[in-house]
Amino acid sequence: MDYKQYITVVEDWPKEGVRFKDITTLMDNGPAYKAAVDEIVQYAKEKEIDLVVGPEARGFIVGCPVSYSLEVGFAPVRKEGKLPREVIKVDYGLEYGQNVLTIHKDAIKPGQRVLITDDLLATGGTIEATIDLVEQLGGIVAGCAFLIELTYLNGRDKLEGYDILTLMDY
Ligand code: PRP
Repeated sequence: MDYKQYITVVEDWPKEGVRFKDITTLMDNGPAYKAAVDEIVQYAKEKEIDLVVGPEARGFIVGCPVSYSLEVGFAPVRKEGKLPREVIKVDYGLEYGQNVLTIHKDAIKPGQRVLITDDLLATGGTIEATIDLVEQLGGIVAGCAFLIELTYLNGRDKLEGYDILTLMDY
């Protein structure tokens, strides 16, 4: 499917010079959203995953329907101060900012095969931090799936040795 027809490019948002890729117009379209999720589900089946992990907020939009379809769990990675129990955390850089990501300490069992999902691979900072959290807890990153890759930001360079699926390139 040509998913790009469902993405809206918003100029100068959230700040000047950024061409924001709005996935809400893809999610709005039932068959397009389902096709994208199904493609990631197929990929996850090949990787024999046990658990899906996704960073807030848009990593949930991609990851939760995948975990539901596979009948495996979903573990949320959240910004600092959002998870109620004991967490581990990591600092990370972002396309436009700086942040801390956390995950519950008991979210992953050592040896579990994890699929990481997000809407967008930009600089790769978020996914690198998420991989770090998964591996600190003994998870095996079996694959990473994104709707969109901004190839000009070279986020993929941070992911050498990891298997990546992306549905659209800009
Ligand atoms: C966006 C996007 C990815 C990340 C990609 O999330 O959803 O998670 O940035 O950028 P990177 O590859 O440069 O790290 P954002 O932090 O804006 O959070 P949100 O989904 O909660 O809006």
